[in-house]
Amino acid sequence: MQVKTQDTRHEDILDEIMDGLKNSPKILPTKLFYDEKGSQLFDKICELDEYYPTRTELKILDDNIEEITSYFGDDCVLVELGSGSSVKIRLLIDHLPTLAAYVPVDISSEHLVYSAESLKADHPGLKVYPLVADYTKEFALPIINENYKTVDAFYPGSTIGNFTPEKAIRFLERVANTCEKNSGLLIGVDLKKEKSILNTAYNDSKGITAEFNLNILNHINALVNADFDINKFSHQAFYNEKYGRIEMHLISKENQEVQIDDEVISFGKDENILTEYSYKYSLQDFKKLVDGIYDVEKIWVDDKQLFSVQYLRAV
Ligand code: AVJ
Repeated sequence: MQVKTQDTRHEDILDEIMDGLKNSPKILPTKLFYDEKGSQLFDKICELDEYYPTRTELKILDDNIEEITSYFGDDCVLVELGSGSSVKIRLLIDHLPTLAAYVPVDISSEHLVYSAESLKADHPGLKVYPLVADYTKEFALPIINENYKTVDAFYPGSTIGNFTPEKAIRFLERVANTCEKNSGLLIGVDLKKEKSILNTAYNDSKGITAEFNLNILNHINALVNADFDINKFSHQAFYNEKYGRIEMHLISKENQEVQIDDEVISFGKDENILTEYSYKYSLQDFKKLVDGIYDVEKIWVDDKQLFSVQYLRAV
């Protein structure tokens, strides 16, 4: 199994971090949550009672797997954007007997290689083409040395919610272009719902989400030679009803200065850094969002209408 890497340059990441910290209000790139530790913490979040999306999406997939996989073409290449927990992809692969190849795309190479190898162990005949890439930017699929008819993408978990609607549109256009004509996209989209359910999901009682949020600073310390002290920041997450999004911030507990590469950035007491948006959509909102890029062919939801799984077809 050959792992292909489309390198994001170190200087690009440093620039992105510095630009964000010179912004007012300060902001950090959400994708930097996912170093090895962050990916493990996210896996723990997925198992929390309060965090309903993962388990709800998995149940929707499980309950409708025959119908869902009937939307995929025969001999298709399956591209997974952000290869997180492998449970969902295993379910799909088990029900796609003519699958030509599986292309997991992830920014974290350790996580990617680990899950690709364990999947290969259970499916020895499966053709896997792992791609280490920042799929939030332009990316190209690896050359697939198999016969295939279509390229279908899988974007689970409502990770689409990390983009602002404007950026989500750009991103979906890129995915549709990368995957060629008439390709499908199976996507998980978290739904608007009662505020208290949302606030609880991002403020769990074990503090795992807080740990996950703070870990972005440790990741940055390792990545670009910075000296953030995670004890001097606290976790904040809340649902912003006006914009229909969860916002996660890190709040500086005191006035402080942080060295990053060869610069010093000051933080005031109570100053916040935005680390993540997690947009929630109504079914109508989402249909409008993708209009002109994808047709919504089919929507599956759970009994409580917490979450949706949608099959989109590029127009
Ligand atoms: C992986 C982006 C879907 O927005 O719910 C979980 C990340 N952040 N808890 C989400 C996350 C805090 C998650 N996504």
